[in-house]
Amino acid sequence: MKIATADTVRRLVELEATAEELMNRHLTAAREWFPHQYVPWSLGRDFDGPLDGEPWHPGQSALGPALRSALVVNLLTEDNLPAYHWIIGAQTSRDGAWGSWLHQWTAEEDRHASALRGYLHATRAVDPVVLAVAGDYDPRVHHDEVLVPLLRALRVHDLAGLGPAGEQARDRIASHVEQLDARAARFVERRARTLAVRARRAGSA
Ligand SMILES: [Fe+2]
Repeated sequence: MKIATADTVRRLVELEATAEELMNRHLTAAREWFPHQYVPWSLGRDFDGPLDGEPWHPGQSALGPALRSALVVNLLTEDNLPAYHWIIGAQTSRDGAWGSWLHQWTAEEDRHASALRGYLHATRAVDPVVLAVAGDYDPRVHHDEVLVPLLRALRVHDLAGLGPAGEQARDRIASHVEQLDARAARFVERRARTLAVRARRAGSA
């Protein structure tokens, strides 16, 4: 992740009035829509699990494997919204016009995710477990692509003259990063195992 430089900040400030104007235009022009209206609920039925419904199998999907993968990847991108929100907020601002834009954008993207997930579940278009596992918050991405670059950019490890409280805080940060790294390793392993089981099952179905 890149941290905003003074130059970027200057440009963002310059563009703020334009951002505000364009967002107002969007808010005036956009037609309100709701995810629930795009999901064919009448096609849906219970899945296996606590409701003891029917498990998913590839034969239930009217979509080919390529389209199924494309939709999973698409929803995966939407499910990374918290990370995108965080990264964009760190590089622009959560205040002013950029902040308003960020909140509006995040809310709209969340509606895409909601509509897509509802549609895929109701029509049994993709394996719901693969969808859930793939879309989980990914601590590996957070550790590698957000946290570590941020600490590096802030030069947390090289700062001199911190004083006892500062040194303690730096130790706490280091142990948090270490724990997250270990958690990320377990997460990646568990996800790979789950996906392998599902892939084997799909292959034999
Ligand atoms: Fe989207």
